[in-house]
Amino acid sequence: MDRQGIRIENLVKRFGKGESLVNVIDGASFLVNKGELIALVAPSGAGKTTLLMMIGCVLEPTSGRIWLGTEEVYHDQWIRNDTRRIRREKIGFIFQAHYLIPFINVIDNVTLLPQTNGLSKERAEAKAMELLTYFDIADKANFMPSQLSGGQNQRVAIARALANEPEIILADEPTAALDFERSVSVVQMLKKIAIEQNVAIIMVTHDEQMLPYCDKVLKIEKKKVITVNSSIPMI
Ligand SMILES: Nc1ncnc2c1ncn2[C@@H]1O[C@H](COP(=O)(O)OP(=O)(O)O)[C@@H](O)[C@H]1O
Ligand SMILES: [Mg+2]
Repeated sequence: MDRQGIRIENLVKRFGKGESLVNVIDGASFLVNKGELIALVAPSGAGKTTLLMMIGCVLEPTSGRIWLGTEEVYHDQWIRNDTRRIRREKIGFIFQAHYLIPFINVIDNVTLLPQTNGLSKERAEAKAMELLTYFDIADKANFMPSQLSGGQNQRVAIARALANEPEIILADEPTAALDFERSVSVVQMLKKIAIEQNVAIIMVTHDEQMLPYCDKVLKIEKKKVITVNSSIPMI
């Protein structure tokens, strides 16, 4: 079962209590294999970010089960209390806004987390340069984020998400601030990463034009997650 990237079983999330109880996710089950880029699509407020944050061990579910890789991390409660360790070791996050730290340069943004995780500065920088080269922005290593375009910053953010060699990447509307061409280029990059680095990727998107580039589409309907096989022809 080592192709298993993310497995969710009967996941439930409710916010609040009594009169103010909101049932957001009510029994979601699905599997994402490593090497796959999955799109998560649903209307605003349907629970996409909530679902992603539970998978990312940022938000505690109400009940259900979550496996990341082959490790079960949640079964009606966190299996290990140290959810930060799971996040650090297994998961790369990419957001709509790139959230690079504005007052340090590109390479320091990419090396920060690996260094926090104990990698030496030299090794972290070597790895970062490898990633920046891969994303065709090695010449921007010593630039500040404000000196880069939106698309370039998003590539740095993807490089940063990869610096820790995660098994899983969770991307919340990573192309929302980009034009069509740059969006396609980011999504194609994510697909390439999924295959070449054997990572399971879930990408939340509002943009139907991105779906043909994904392996499968997950939709949240009636508070449950359903899988729609991407039979949409490539543009
Ligand atoms: N901390 C919270 N407390 C109460 N309700 C919340 C909280 N976070 C999200 N929600 C509610 O959960 C629902 C799903 O939100 P969200 O996951 O952000 O949706 P999406 O990302 O699909 O737009 C919304 O109705 C939202 O108001
Ligand atoms: Mg959201």
